[in-house]
Amino acid sequence: MIKKIVAGLSILLALLLALAGVVAAYYWRPAIAPINPPPAETFSRQLVEQGRVLAGIGNCAACHTAKDGADYAGGRGLATAFGTIYATNLTPDTQTGIGRWSLAAFQRAMREGVRRDGDHLYPAFPYTHFTHVNDADLTALYAYFMTRPPVYAAPRANTLPFPLNLRALQAGWKLLYFKPGALAPDAAHGQDWNRGRYLAEGLAHCAACHTPRNALGAEIASSAYLGRPMAHWYAPALTSANTAPLPWTKDELTAFLRTGATALHGVAAGPMSTVVQGLKGAPDSDVRALAIYFADVADAEHSKTDVDAVVKAAIAHSQKVSLVDNDRGASLYVAACAACHSNSDGRPVAVRPELSLNSAVSLPDPANLLQVILHGSNNPGLMPGFAQALSDADIAQLAAYLRRSRSSQPAWPELEAAVVRARAAQ
Ligand code: HEC
Ligand code: HEC
Ligand code: HEC
Repeated sequence: MIKKIVAGLSILLALLLALAGVVAAYYWRPAIAPINPPPAETFSRQLVEQGRVLAGIGNCAACHTAKDGADYAGGRGLATAFGTIYATNLTPDTQTGIGRWSLAAFQRAMREGVRRDGDHLYPAFPYTHFTHVNDADLTALYAYFMTRPPVYAAPRANTLPFPLNLRALQAGWKLLYFKPGALAPDAAHGQDWNRGRYLAEGLAHCAACHTPRNALGAEIASSAYLGRPMAHWYAPALTSANTAPLPWTKDELTAFLRTGATALHGVAAGPMSTVVQGLKGAPDSDVRALAIYFADVADAEHSKTDVDAVVKAAIAHSQKVSLVDNDRGASLYVAACAACHSNSDGRPVAVRPELSLNSAVSLPDPANLLQVILHGSNNPGLMPGFAQALSDADIAQLAAYLRRSRSSQPAWPELEAAVVRARAAQ
């Protein structure tokens, strides 16, 4: 009996090993020959400028420029559930950067997640999205990076444990989760929607933050854009599951992505402010295309919300601050926040966000609200942080009060512990 089980297991093991071998062989890629870095004059000014705009849309700097580090010289660590993966040096340094990469090697990295030497890259690098980027855009990005000042900066070693540190194993991940290639245009939609999808699903990789991931770190396609917690922030749902009181329409999305703030929702904070910063160079038509695509993702056309009525009711409601029962949260609000956040003239404006319309108050997770209360606005001079002025217990009570009085969502559990975590994040 035992002999039979052992024999069965050995056969199974042999089959698994054979399968792993086949997968690895299928995904095996050769090294691409090194080149001498092409002189900067090889690339036209116009192409380099186009590449600069695209690098902004792709937010390359958010990962490839370390805090206080040289532009694109790498070094930012991405904390994953498995360990920290460091973004590499994208400057054309010949020893530590991509100076010896041909256009073909760069294209292969972006489209297939494979290094010049043939090793697999980890999907912390969003090649699963960049695979949709067309030849013209990749050529412009290559021109941009090959004309940056070369910086000698050796990439830091990842902290992945064995066996995840074996890049060859990424072949298995790719077999399960990677769909390479361009997206075929969707004839059911117009040109703007298709342009928006091309940018969103490709270079701008919006889903990388807004779509939940499975235990192996892959985006769950059936939960596209349903929102997820990230390190110290929560990326909200961009579907009709979004909890903000007012729908994300084409105009609201355009204003948010173009200016970083809207009167009816709030401001782009944390990682999202970096995204909006990156979009600064993009033409209005591209920002509008993204808005058209995401208004469809949010199903805004079918929303029956009466915007004026919701705004009126929200403002009237948030003016009713009750100080009965020694409500410490309410007193703190009046003392610390009301001067700037009270819309007593009945009209919300972007520089005075109406908290009863703000997403941060209605999200499933308090992280964004706590970050803003603790550390203030990204835009200097607009809203101060209260990390010094308020204790953890104060902030928890204030957040609980805002949740209770300005949203119809259930109370957040264990708020004080969340404040402690948010405080430690900076
Ligand atoms: C979310 C973070 C993130 C963003 C955004 C990002 N990258 Fe990366 N990138 C990484 C990480 C992490 C690696 C290293 C992966 C590894 O070691 O397996 C990497 C690796 C690369 C590599 C391979 C380089 C090498 O030496 O192996 C290239 C090329 C690259 N990125 C280009 C880009 C470009 C171009 C953009 C913008 C359009 C971009 N990346 C945006 C995280 C990012
Ligand atoms: C690096 C992660 C990241 C990427 C990439 C990203 N987002 Fe976000 N996004 C966030 C986070 C975190 C928030 C919540 C903070 C805030 O409100 O600004 C957010 C907020 C938003 C909101 C406001 C939602 C609400 O209810 O308040 C919209 C709309 C949005 N993102 C759209 C986009 C679009 C469109 C893209 C692609 C062009 C994108 N995001 C890419 C992380 C990201
Ligand atoms: C000095 C004026 C001022 C004070 C005081 C102030 N805020 Fe703000 N707050 C602002 C401004 C202005 C913005 C918009 C920031 C921007 O555009 O970057 C803002 C933004 C916000 C947001 C929106 C964040 C988002 O992601 O949309 C929240 C939530 C918020 N404040 C809560 C509070 C709370 C709670 C207090 C009291 C502890 C407070 N604010 C005190 C001026 C203030």
